[in-house]
Amino acid sequence: MTARAATAPASLAPPAAREPLIRFRAVELTLAGRRILDPISLDIGRGEFVCVVGPSGCGKTTLLRLIAGLYLPSGGQVLYDGKPVSGPRQDIAIVFQDYGKALLPWRTAAGNVSLALEAIGMPRAERPARIAALLATVGLSNHADKFPGQLSGGMQQRLQIARCLAQAPSVLLMDEPFGALDAMTRQALQDEVLALAASSGATVFFVTHDLEEAIYLGDRVVALRPNPGRVADMFDVRLSRPRDQLTTREHPDFLRLRRTLFDFIKESEA
Ligand SMILES: Nc1ncnc2c1ncn2[C@@H]1O[C@H](COP(=O)(O)OP(=O)(O)OP(=O)(O)O)[C@@H](O)[C@H]1O
Ligand SMILES: [Mg+2]
Repeated sequence: MTARAATAPASLAPPAAREPLIRFRAVELTLAGRRILDPISLDIGRGEFVCVVGPSGCGKTTLLRLIAGLYLPSGGQVLYDGKPVSGPRQDIAIVFQDYGKALLPWRTAAGNVSLALEAIGMPRAERPARIAALLATVGLSNHADKFPGQLSGGMQQRLQIARCLAQAPSVLLMDEPFGALDAMTRQALQDEVLALAASSGATVFFVTHDLEEAIYLGDRVVALRPNPGRVADMFDVRLSRPRDQLTTREHPDFLRLRRTLFDFIKESEA
């Protein structure tokens, strides 16, 4: 490493403009006669890691569901690769907050991963090697034959992530995926998701209540405001990658952005 690189600040030039993969064009949503979202316009770049924060009920999950095609907008358009989203698709995977409900209790860990491979039509003979590779990726090689009920919460969440990766998704939608986990497991999974996003080039839309998690993971943090839900502000995170749980979180730019976001959330909850 050159002296210049060694002393270079972790805060770098703005990220290069990315081609948009997901576009919200003046998307609004009314459900059961209630205005849920005011018009939202937002572009998410191919390969971008976007984190969404905001108070409870501001529409974070709703945005995720719109990308997934689980809700259709009442006005405006959600475009995926230039075409309107019309329903769920195989190349978009979702990691739900409630991993308990997302796994099949009567299938082993290997069986749960296999399900996703069956869904994409992978021939039976090719599945065992792929299952083994995916379980190794999330550190579950020694638990392939266990049922979800025999796994800890962190392991179940790893399994859900492995199952999503089996889809080889272009987009990973994650809805507060680590909310129920202890701090150490949470940090380990944060780093796994970062490594997987970097190696696969997947676009990630990550909902969290945890502002530090949003900064640590994201290329950008989108802050929403409630009643009705709308984008209040966006923050570029210009911290270098790969991120590191100690040095990134101690970096002055991390701390500055953390303060800005905390002030922002406090103000929007006032
Ligand atoms: N199917 C529905 N019918 C009517 N209202 C709904 C429906 N789904 C969500 N809402 C409302 O839309 C608003 C946004 O909900 P959403 O679940 O997106 O919030 P959120 O930001 O994910 O909140 P939390 O942080 O608590 O998960 C809430 O006021 C919620 O009550
Ligand atoms: Mg939610």
